[in-house]
Amino acid sequence: MTETHPVTATVNGREETFEVEGLESLMDVLRDKLHLSGTKEGCREGECGACTVLLDGKPVNSCGYIARAAEGREIETIEGLNDALSMRIKTAIVEAGGIQCGYCTPGIVVMLSGLLRRHAAPDERLIRQALSGNICRCTGYAQIVDAVLGVVQGKAAAE
Ligand code: FES
Ligand code: FES
Repeated sequence: MTETHPVTATVNGREETFEVEGLESLMDVLRDKLHLSGTKEGCREGECGACTVLLDGKPVNSCGYIARAAEGREIETIEGLNDALSMRIKTAIVEAGGIQCGYCTPGIVVMLSGLLRRHAAPDERLIRQALSGNICRCTGYAQIVDAVLGVVQGKAAAE
């Protein structure tokens, strides 16, 4: 029988305790044990960004993050990003036509939520740099970047 270890972390604002095996990835725990399937499985090699989550507010590829290391930390997945800023990002991407197949979208929204929390007004270069690890095979990124710039302008106008 495989040995497991209990890990306790805050997931989307709730304390969760889950059993993890040796080098099991955070992505697998989120998807298979906590049923948070909005975190997508893509390359499993840290190359595509589909599995991006926020860990203590910073974006990480959860496929490459050992779940045991999440002990005591705060994890946010796409399912938990319902704050006003994240909702504005989601709506803007939809309205700009920045979703086609949608497979990359959760990871991109998580990445952008993390970016806009850290930077009040990122410019296009910074937005594209933040998205450089999130592969979208459908959109060409222009609509997504335009959507984020619109959110940034809306924020500035409201302040
Ligand atoms: S599945 Fe994690 S980076 Fe691709
Ligand atoms: S919308 Fe299809 S991969 Fe991005």
